[in-house]
Amino acid sequence: MERTFLAIKPDGVQRGLIGEIIRRYEAKGFTLVGLKLMNVSRELAEKHYGVHKEKPFFPGLVEFITSGPVVAMVWEGEGVIASARKIIGATNPLTAEPGTIRGDYGVSIGRNIIHGSDAPETAQSEIALWFTSEELASWQPTINPWVYE
Ligand code: RTP
Ligand code: MG
Repeated sequence: MERTFLAIKPDGVQRGLIGEIIRRYEAKGFTLVGLKLMNVSRELAEKHYGVHKEKPFFPGLVEFITSGPVVAMVWEGEGVIASARKIIGATNPLTAEPGTIRGDYGVSIGRNIIHGSDAPETAQSEIALWFTSEELASWQPTINPWVYE
């Protein structure tokens, strides 16, 4: 079954959106298999956003993501990588559709509440970067026959 990495950024934690965000993914029918609240080291932040290291916003992005605790999560389900990104919405919260997390709760591109892996390869590498295999719980919700045909 497909898995993705999601992280509630320091602004989402500070604004009390942890429960609301987890609720949306649970309600959708996806399965939480990894969850931890943690401070992010500069090393982890620079690896996680390594693809952006030449961009002008990179120093500010690393500064921001290390500025307070984040909630790191792994979610599982059919099509979860693309679907989780749809639920998140566009990078700039002002252009993100209402109904998406960023569209409903954000204003600024540098305070866009949540991260989601953008492809199968990044999902795999980000899960391995943020979690050990012992930290992930494989389980089958008993409601799954009511979620999947
Ligand atoms: P994320 O990786 O955090 O899930 O966000 P994303 O895929 O929607 O956007 P991405 O292009 O990967 O950019 C990573 C984060 O960098 C900040 N950013 N700032 N000032 C700017 O032009 C700019 N562009 C990107 C955003 O906080 C974005 O989430
Ligand atoms: Mg990205």
